[in-house]
Amino acid sequence: MIGIILGTRPEIIKMSPVIKECEDQGLDYFILHTGQHYSYEMDRIFFDMLNLPHPNYNLDVGSGTHASQTGKIMLGIESILSKEQPEVVLVQGDTNTVLSGSLAAAKLNIKIGHIEAGLRSFDRSMPEEINRIVSDHISDYLFAPTEMSYRQLVKEGIDPEKIFVTGNTVVDAVHQNIEIAKNKVDILKDLGLSPKEYILVTFHRAENVDVKERLEGIITGLKLIKDYFSLPIVFPIHPRTEKMIEKFDFSLEGINVIPPQGFLEFLQLEANAKFVLTDSGGLQEETCILGVPCITLRENTERPETLEVGSNVLAGVNPLTMLNHAKNVVREKSWNNPYGDGTAAKLIVDVCREVSK
Ligand code: UD1
Ligand code: UDP
Repeated sequence: MIGIILGTRPEIIKMSPVIKECEDQGLDYFILHTGQHYSYEMDRIFFDMLNLPHPNYNLDVGSGTHASQTGKIMLGIESILSKEQPEVVLVQGDTNTVLSGSLAAAKLNIKIGHIEAGLRSFDRSMPEEINRIVSDHISDYLFAPTEMSYRQLVKEGIDPEKIFVTGNTVVDAVHQNIEIAKNKVDILKDLGLSPKEYILVTFHRAENVDVKERLEGIITGLKLIKDYFSLPIVFPIHPRTEKMIEKFDFSLEGINVIPPQGFLEFLQLEANAKFVLTDSGGLQEETCILGVPCITLRENTERPETLEVGSNVLAGVNPLTMLNHAKNVVREKSWNNPYGDGTAAKLIVDVCREVSK
């Protein structure tokens, strides 16, 4: 039996091809949702729109400090894994759900498969960096999306026999949903937008939105870019960002703020944007896959493949630097997608099927 652990928006999206593959292969599996994300538009909407089975368990842990969230998730997972006794659990990415899921499984001597292993920003002030490192080093099967992530794991002393280069399941998710999106939703029409005549923005990283000066820098930069291009800036706002903008009493006047979108709507917004400004990990990958230029509002990235192929640039949060990068990236260019051919989920599930026999 395979235990699939997830808890946040990107995990639901990137696990969706794995869940579908388990269904297609008729495997014995269960879904354990930690409840780290719980608002409808950060959670349920993805199960509904992507036709995913409802989780077998939901720990409903909600928000909290790192220790309290991680501790609650570990307690909940321990009791479920003790009961279900899966041969292998799968975790995806770098959230607190991943850290707690893999730690709880490791202590029960249950095998762990880490999807999206080997990513490094080399910035330990990011909570995600700690989560990735710990999870990689206690995992039994490391599903590295690229050769670069494979090499990083080997460099850290991880046995190459444990590492499988699979591509990233986000490619599977984009391929599976982009056509469905065309037939099912028309968000551009709903928002009165034209293709390539708007800029898409998302940001939510703690190190950006919880720090007043950095948040202010991003907002000022967005306003400069809006004035320069005279194009609408569409901003599906993450709840954390909304909370912090309210707290610091900043204004987003002139920016087209909308609620977080479902994956089909969001893919459409992304694919048709002139360019994207973001601090999201998933968006750096998806823009690369969709052929849309990306400007990352950070000083570093654990997705260096996107810098290497030229789909992405690092701008940080200085308003003028953001504007200068925006002026440069609009030039038409193309690149190869380094994240695989959309068969990651099958490769991952095939490995799990073998070990859970
Ligand atoms: C988490 C992950 C981050 C990931 C992001 C994806 C960690 C440490 N962080 O960050 O790596 O990129 O998810 O979106 O695991 N909130 C709601 N509704 C929700 C969820 C959150 O209102 O459904 C609000 C709460 O005010 C909460 C805040 O957002 O305090 C932050 O939520 P949390 O899950 O702690 O971290 P994220 O910033 O979402
Ligand atoms: N996403 C979405 N609706 C939105 C914003 C993002 O469906 O309004 C999707 C996006 O396509 C990507 C994932 O959510 O697949 C990224 O999640 P997020 O940026 O929250 O997390 P990160 O990738 O940074 O961990």
